[in-house]
Amino acid sequence: MRGLCKILLFISVCCIRAKKTRWCTVSDAEQRKCAELAKSLVAVLPPAAVAAFARLSCVRASSTTDCINKIKANRADIVTLDAGEVYSAVKQFDLVAVAKEMYSEGGCVLSVAVVTDSSMDIRSLQGHRSCHSGLRWTAGWSLPLGFLLSRNYLSWSKERPLSQDISAFFNASCVPGAAAVAPDLCALCRGHKSFIRKKNYFCETSHSEPFYNNQGALRCLRSGAGDVAFVDHLALESVEASEQDQLRLLCPDGTNAPLSHYRSCNLGCGPGGGVITRYNFRKVVRKFITTIQLLFGRNGKRRQHFQLFNSTSFGENDLLFRDMTDKLVVLPDDVDVSQVLGLDYVALLKGLGHEGSSLEDSVVRWCCISHAEQKKCEQWALSIKSDPLVCVRGVSMRDCIKRIKKDEVDAVSLDATHSYVAGKCGLIPVVTEYYGRTCAPAEGSAHVETDVFPSVAGVAVAKHSSRNIFMGNLGGRRSCHSHLYSPAGWLLPYTHTLSLEHNNSASCDPNQVFDEVFWKGCLPGSQGNLCKVCMGGTGEAATKRCSDNHNERYYGNMGALRCLVGDPSGKSYGEVAFLEQHSLHTNILSLSSSGWAEGWTSSDFELLCADGRRAALSEWESCNLGAVPPNTIMTRPVLAARIYNFLIKSQETLGANPNSEFKLFESHQYGESDLLFKDATRCFVHTSHMEYRTILGEAFYSHVENVFNCTHSDILEFCNKDVCSAF
Ligand SMILES: *[C@@H]1O[C@H](CO)[C@@H](O)[C@H](O)[C@H]1NC(C)=O
Ligand SMILES: *[C@@H]1O[C@H](CO)[C@@H](O)[C@H](O)[C@H]1NC(C)=O
Ligand SMILES: *[C@@H]1O[C@H](CO)[C@@H](O)[C@H](O)[C@H]1NC(C)=O
Ligand SMILES: *[C@@H]1O[C@H](CO)[C@@H](O)[C@H](O)[C@H]1NC(C)=O
Repeated sequence: MRGLCKILLFISVCCIRAKKTRWCTVSDAEQRKCAELAKSLVAVLPPAAVAAFARLSCVRASSTTDCINKIKANRADIVTLDAGEVYSAVKQFDLVAVAKEMYSEGGCVLSVAVVTDSSMDIRSLQGHRSCHSGLRWTAGWSLPLGFLLSRNYLSWSKERPLSQDISAFFNASCVPGAAAVAPDLCALCRGHKSFIRKKNYFCETSHSEPFYNNQGALRCLRSGAGDVAFVDHLALESVEASEQDQLRLLCPDGTNAPLSHYRSCNLGCGPGGGVITRYNFRKVVRKFITTIQLLFGRNGKRRQHFQLFNSTSFGENDLLFRDMTDKLVVLPDDVDVSQVLGLDYVALLKGLGHEGSSLEDSVVRWCCISHAEQKKCEQWALSIKSDPLVCVRGVSMRDCIKRIKKDEVDAVSLDATHSYVAGKCGLIPVVTEYYGRTCAPAEGSAHVETDVFPSVAGVAVAKHSSRNIFMGNLGGRRSCHSHLYSPAGWLLPYTHTLSLEHNNSASCDPNQVFDEVFWKGCLPGSQGNLCKVCMGGTGEAATKRCSDNHNERYYGNMGALRCLVGDPSGKSYGEVAFLEQHSLHTNILSLSSSGWAEGWTSSDFELLCADGRRAALSEWESCNLGAVPPNTIMTRPVLAARIYNFLIKSQETLGANPNSEFKLFESHQYGESDLLFKDATRCFVHTSHMEYRTILGEAFYSHVENVFNCTHSDILEFCNKDVCSAF
């Protein structure tokens, strides 16, 4: 008897120090699995180890929201949540994410729309009945709604929360978790209703609501309650072979496909589940997670006792963790939520108003890369009557892509090469610049609609007076390039024989080819010898040499021309310039009006043809280095419809007032060319329903892909690091 007392005394003393971990569960089934885990820990670990860090108790809550509240209030410690709820727990409740679920293909999930009726079409879901895994869940809510908004199949008035527009869009829904915030979205749910909060499961995020989570949403579809279920691709694994034929996926292009095609037929990807706790409990939880994974994970030493990622014997799926989890990755301290969940995802949640709508939502933030663009953008903002326009400064097109991803700006016009990069970074087209002769819309339609986009030409230009310069004879000379990654200044020239002595067949990296062939030059945005001819900028546009924007006076089509003629003192000049043909003539004339260099006319220049000939500027159609696909305005997917409306309103307002001082597609009054948009633009063509790959054309696309496969680029590296970019 005294011995037992001693042991009890010992345990109670030791356990004042050792923390007990309290797991929050949302159903009886989950409570049973949790209790089994607690028992198994006691069974397999020596008592001292259990006492030190593996004591587990299970706290029953009525929903995941209840769990978040309990953890916040120090009445529970730990729970696994969908990424959408992880975000709310971190942002609104100051909790921290300590671990992430990893599945066989990584830590991300694809959102899919599952139907039983193969005549359904993602483009006409309005009026149908919908089943969702949970409110604000990644695959069941945010990704599909982001998709529907980006295609403009669903419109959101912004004056009210998105949930209200959703309940008007679908005939009826079951969105577990919506009971308190949008009861209209609960009509199809089947959970037990009770006035006693703890016993009410109707439309709650609890397994006691039969239509809760991925399995519940599929149940909602199968039972005939709903016409479409939004779930993630992991849920498809549990569909029995015999049932596979009865279910179809709705694809973005309006077709449908068998369940196994989820990789090509989905509504987007986002992060999977994560484990959260209070900040000051995170170390205990990390140790606990590591321990249970070592013991009971997929390769756990004691998995014959208990399997962490298997819920079969408890009568439900996905208890404590997703059953498809391969392993848990413990997160280091002080990682930002956007590093855990991904920039794209966090920007999507902000776009959907997860943190409540704000004034910011109605503002369009345009990315401007130079002082001149900023001035033009500010004039634009004053000349329109639509959503307010704010002009935000970036330092280069690459920087704008980065900032759009980070939700610091919303849109920018990108040249063809940068459109490729932006597409790889998850941005999508809104409109494409149209360089045709006229912009008269076809009869019966309000805007120009086309999928044939006139291109511009990339050319090489030399001074008429430099007689012995031609393609093939450029070795050791000084070069001028519009800018790094520009189609005409960077991508096209290297594909031609620049110099017979310097074999360009040796390298597929344009930077390396230029470095070998030219003595020095100005390629704004690059480094080394190819910056030596650059000038930098002064005054309000002050910048160091070689910056990748119009502040560098040798940047762009106008800049490459300035570089060719040299600065007013006659120094710092190039012998060949690689640029776009479209506004060459006007740019030559404006050299003097901009106070740069006097007296130059078109006849002072000649084109260098790919075959070594020289020709007059007017002969560009037969003497060029290749076609350059048009610029495209790109944005985050969730904003596409809004940016489109904004641009079309701008175009209409400005078009209806031809006397307006401000012209969207002119730049010479600011002393530059191609500010914000190419000066050759006649109008915008709607392209948000198109893939950027289609806009660029297959030949150009694979050329750019090849080149980026053998040159290092910070921006693609940055984008490839985002959490779900590998999917
Ligand atoms: C939507 O509901 C209305 C009335 O409840 C019904 O008439 C209509 O057929 C439903 N639409 C679909 C597509 O189920
Ligand atoms: C899950 O557990 C059940 C019963 O304990 C077992 O039959 C099944 O094989 C397990 N599943 C996996 C994938 O290990
Ligand atoms: C250049 O290419 C030719 C064949 O196209 C080859 O014979 C020659 O060795 C190459 N020169 C260099 C410097 O690589
Ligand atoms: C470029 O690299 C990617 C990934 O390594 C590969 O999938 C693709 O086929 C490559 N493209 C070309 C044109 O070589």
